[in-house]
Amino acid sequence: MKTLTVALPGREYDILIQRGLLSQAGERTRALLPNARKLAVVTDTNVHPLYYDRVKAGLRSAGFQVGLFVIPAGEKSKDSAHLVELWEYLMRFGLTRTDAVAALGGGVVGDLAGFAAATILRGVPFIQIPTTLLSQVDSSVGGKVAVDLEAGKNLAGAFYQPKLVLMDPDTLDTLDGDTFAGGMAEVVKYGCIWDARFFDLLAARPAREALTTDIEHILYTCCDIKRKVVMEDELDTGLRMILNFGHTLGHAYELAGHYTQWTHGQAVAAGMCAAARLGVKLGVTPPDLPGRISDVCAALGLPTSIPCSMEDYAAAIGLDKKSAGADITLILLDKMGRAVPHKMPRGDLLALLEETL
Ligand code: GLY
Repeated sequence: MKTLTVALPGREYDILIQRGLLSQAGERTRALLPNARKLAVVTDTNVHPLYYDRVKAGLRSAGFQVGLFVIPAGEKSKDSAHLVELWEYLMRFGLTRTDAVAALGGGVVGDLAGFAAATILRGVPFIQIPTTLLSQVDSSVGGKVAVDLEAGKNLAGAFYQPKLVLMDPDTLDTLDGDTFAGGMAEVVKYGCIWDARFFDLLAARPAREALTTDIEHILYTCCDIKRKVVMEDELDTGLRMILNFGHTLGHAYELAGHYTQWTHGQAVAAGMCAAARLGVKLGVTPPDLPGRISDVCAALGLPTSIPCSMEDYAAAIGLDKKSAGADITLILLDKMGRAVPHKMPRGDLLALLEETL
């Protein structure tokens, strides 16, 4: 078993990583919550048939009365309507403040269940059981929970740390190729921003089979980096922004593809490649880095560039007539394994994008 502790004062929790861990969800949760009677599992229509029975059996034998709330798979379920339905369900289920909510699934399930747990009865204990690569290396750690609004993604949310994150790498075996590759974009990001040796390890063996053999080490390394960043800057006022490497331009590509053509991971991959090229142009990034990052992304089956209009770039960087002079902070690399914030006027960034990409 690999264990990491997110040591936040008063809100410390463990991240457990082990093949087969799903069947231990009951005893692990019971050890943390000795007085809880009920546990509501939130999951989606993809994950429910695959893993719910195993988790439920463990929870029942640990003495929990288990509730179940299933949402349709997909980002559309992460909205205020499903949040209200979930709140109402939790009250019908008879949840009290000593009981708990568990998220079994990917980022959508984790964000929705986490925000419901943060707000129902002014907060009940929350367990993350992430089953996708993206949620294991990113969204299940660090306490960002949210739902989407018409005005944009993740606009109603909270920082609400889980009591436990329980990761079973075996759940990744059922991911399709694109979903696995999308998660790998975030994995590559950790190498770029924090750990050059880790980047080299991924670059040397980018085939899924090899990555799967090393998956516990990969999950551990990513969660260790995320944990360190979150312990330093839980509320996202400083260091945590380095996790956005590739995401500002990635957002432009998500917009360009109307959030349907490209997955988040594909957009982030192209965003990292573009940020590396911009970094070279700005004299911050060594000239060999864009090629190294593009090579890994291409080997993983991820796009290294995505067509995007200047209008979509402008929207993604929050540029309108009034904001042209206002600064934006772009995350760049000044060497492999080290991210640096780079402040520049939004208007200048758009001009540079037009010239470079
Ligand atoms: N996913 C970025 C963060 O947790 O801050």
